[in-house]
Amino acid sequence: MMVKQLVDGFGRVHRDLRISVTDRCNFRCTYCMPAEGLKWVSRADLLTFEEITRVAKIMVEYYGFNSIRITGGEPTVRAKLPVLIKKLAKLPVDLAMTTNGVSLPLIARELRKAGLNRVNISCDSLRAERFAELSRRDMLSRVLEGIDAAIAVGFRPVKINCVLIRGANDDEIADFVAFGREKGIEVRFIEFMPLDADQKWGNNQVITADEIRYLVNSVSPIEPVVRTSAPATRYRFLDGKGYIGIVASVSESFCTTCDRVRITAEGQFRNCLFATSETDIRKLLRNKATDDEIASAVSTSVATKWAGHQINQVNFIRPRRSMSQIGG
Ligand code: 5AD
Ligand code: SF4
Repeated sequence: MMVKQLVDGFGRVHRDLRISVTDRCNFRCTYCMPAEGLKWVSRADLLTFEEITRVAKIMVEYYGFNSIRITGGEPTVRAKLPVLIKKLAKLPVDLAMTTNGVSLPLIARELRKAGLNRVNISCDSLRAERFAELSRRDMLSRVLEGIDAAIAVGFRPVKINCVLIRGANDDEIADFVAFGREKGIEVRFIEFMPLDADQKWGNNQVITADEIRYLVNSVSPIEPVVRTSAPATRYRFLDGKGYIGIVASVSESFCTTCDRVRITAEGQFRNCLFATSETDIRKLLRNKATDDEIASAVSTSVATKWAGHQINQVNFIRPRRSMSQIGG
């Protein structure tokens, strides 16, 4: 088959698929979910592993996708996840996962064996009490064990995602820098985005890339590494001891080089994290649509992708879903 490019109206070529495998999570991060959780998608409404694999295969075969990331909610909450990983690992893609890390002490090895290449582990505080407050789960030590397990079983690279929120954890930047350098892993500081479940996001809570750079530089000097389509801008420590990343979704949005699309746990295709409409791929899958028809629904959606989100403008429309319901 001729591989076409999945191009939008602004000439951006898409090659990166993010698949949410569940909207559930065993954490309740305050900026992501209410304490009681959200209304979960019922089992019958989730895409099956066969359906997920079919969509992934279409994206690879029709459009040359070379990167797939498994997300949630918390992806390891989905039963038999390694079975899905095994299916997806047969595709010629870089297969990664974003996780809160708590299950990794138990299943890192199995996931690695199934063919997962790498993991990003979310961790917003290195202080046990604060971690428990932020995630509503007293599980920092399990997450730290999870990070060690990820390194031990050979995921490369292992990255840490740290969402910075003013007044909550912005005093830990130096600790995270030291932690990453010690472990030989890359910490990525992420600007807080208006995708929190309780809609309390405010511009003043965002620790901007400028502030992060200033603070990191005062701990240990850094210089930028040449940019790719990856959302994080990477920096090298001048002393040669590692890298950090900054995901400046709000203050320096990277929409102009975005190459990602998403599919939610219930099979809704989204051309942007901030999209306000979705394409019902599950319906197509369950109504016996052909691969051609699914591929064409995807390209119709991508053709109308916006130039970018408008978080800082008055016409910004918040998506109905929170981050955990879209997949990070
Ligand atoms: N802003 C920025 N990052 C967020 N995440 C969840 N909600 C938000 C938000 N409102 C992060 C998680 C995880 C990744 C999937 O997205 O902490 O690292
Ligand atoms: Fe779960 Fe991730 Fe949301 Fe925290 S941010 S509640 S770990 S989905």
